[in-house]
Amino acid sequence: MIALGCDHGGYPLMKEVIKYLEKEGIEYKNFGTFSEESCDYPVYAKLAANAVASGECDKGILICGTGIGISITANKIKGIRCALCHDCFSAKATRQHNDANMLAMGARVVGPGLAVEIVKDFLNTEFSNEERHIRRIKQIED
Ligand code: RB5
Repeated sequence: MIALGCDHGGYPLMKEVIKYLEKEGIEYKNFGTFSEESCDYPVYAKLAANAVASGECDKGILICGTGIGISITANKIKGIRCALCHDCFSAKATRQHNDANMLAMGARVVGPGLAVEIVKDFLNTEFSNEERHIRRIKQIED
């Protein structure tokens, strides 16, 4: 189950991401927002990130205008490793090296074609499980 969260700036791109998830039959829980009416990204970042931190959802995708505010907010929640990615290399690497459990993107930074490729790489790449990466992730939490 994928947790989704966005603000008004991210909403148009989130609709494209949702189209992809539905086409692939990937289950998601959408925590909003649900329109382009101005709102506060921390509200939606926290709802989605709490669902990942609690185990209700396995991973999450967050989108705001830049991806910055929404990723900063998510990373304040214990257990969340939210990676702001605007390229496929980073999306794969953050899964392999950081076991990132949330992806953030900026709808004013990437177009829908690239965004969907980033989502694919994020969702389809496994954590490497290598000792050095496990050690470093543990140090983030300590
Ligand atoms: C909203 O205008 C914008 O500030 C927000 O979407 C995001 O980019 C914040 O980091």
